[in-house]
Order: sequence, then C-alpha cells, then structure tokens
Amino acid sequence: MQDGARRRSEKMIEHIRMAAVSNTRLVVDVGAADAFMLNELGLQLPGVHRIAVDISREYLRGNIVPSVQADGFKLPFRDSSVDILTCAAMLKHVHDAGALIVEFRRVLVPGGTLILVDPTPLGIRIGKLLGHFSAHGIAQTLSLNDTSRLVQQHGFMTDAYERFLLVPGGGRAGRIAESMLRHGPASRLFLNQILRARRR
Ligand SMILES: C[S@@+](CC[C@H](N)C(=O)[O-])C[C@H]1O[C@@H](n2cnc3c(N)ncnc32)[C@H](O)[C@@H]1O
Repeated sequence: MQDGARRRSEKMIEHIRMAAVSNTRLVVDVGAADAFMLNELGLQLPGVHRIAVDISREYLRGNIVPSVQADGFKLPFRDSSVDILTCAAMLKHVHDAGALIVEFRRVLVPGGTLILVDPTPLGIRIGKLLGHFSAHGIAQTLSLNDTSRLVQQHGFMTDAYERFLLVPGGGRAGRIAESMLRHGPASRLFLNQILRARRR
C-alpha cells in the first residue's frame, strides 16, 4: 500500500465521519481502484453500505467491497440515492470537472456530502517533475478555492476544506508532523487537499 493512498484514506474517513449522520446508508467512492479507503471505512462504520466505482475493471479486480465498473460521468445509481460520495486523486485527470460534479450531484440525496481529494497545484507541479503522473496525465489543476467555486456553481455548499501532509511511512508519525507544522511556513509542504461540500 502506498503511503499516499493510506493518508488520503485517513483524511477521507475523518471527513466522512464528520459528515455521517444516523441515517447515512450508502457511501460511494468514485475512482476507487482497490477500494482501500472503503475497506478501512467498513472497519470503522460497519453498518454503512459501500460501493467502489472505477472505470477500470482491472483496478477493481479482487476487491472485497462491492464494486462496479462504470464511468464517473455516467454513474449507475438512481437520482438522490447516495448519502456520501467520495472521489480521490481522480479530478485532476478529467477534462470536464464541471460535468463530473453535475453527475455527482444527481446521485446524491439532498443534503448529501461530496468529498474531493487531490494534490494541490504545487503538489501537481512537483509530482510532474518527479514523473509521478505519467500513467494518467494531468488534465487540469484546481486549487482549493477553484474547487470550492466549482462545486458551489454546481449546487453545493462548501462545508470544510484543508491542505494536508503526506509523510513517507505515514501513520502516526505523519499525523504528528502534520499537527506540528500546520500553522507555520512549513505548511507549504502540505501538498494535498480535501474539500467537503453538501448538496443543496
Ligand atoms: C490515481 S487513481 C486513485 C485511486 C484511489 N482513489 C486513491 O486515492 O488511491 C485514479 C483512479 O481513477 C480512475 N478513473 C479515472 N477516470 C475515471 C472515470 N472517468 N470514472 C471512474 N473512474 C475513473 C482510474 O481508473 C484510477 O483507478
């Protein structure tokens, strides 16, 4: 397991737990790949149904969590049927983020939560220099402000957003380093971002 995926997953679960209410029944992760986050979530919120969606059948192969091969732009869910929808490390690869957000809004219940995670623009620049994104290519770079504006234009209210740190090795050491550095200039090293919004 990559440190990056582990830390993304921790952050997403933190925000899912902040958003989850007693009647939260279904969490869908779009671009879920091996469904690492949903597996972890199942350990923490065992009563919640989880579905992993990915365009690649290969990435979904072997998942224990119920998984569906589908395009995020054409989700196989009824209108207003999903309580929480997450999408990590995918938005930067799509050309029409607005259309994706419209589809996410369609499937979310009114008041449902959308959680988006991606590297910050600086994180993407550094990732490109290190050759990290060659497999999928970067279609666009959105700052937290851009992402917040985008979701608000498409029928969401932004509830929270933050940048966060990925530390090699991750886990507890990463969390401690993050809390120590959060308010100083070293927070520029926080190269990942998460935004949580509610469907109007
Ligand atoms: C970089 S991986 C991120 C995997 C996981 N979310 C994580 O945080 O580790 C991006 C994933 O998005 C999937 N993906 C890309 N475009 C997609 C689309 N239009 N619909 C659904 N999945 C898509 C890819 O197949 C890939 O599994």
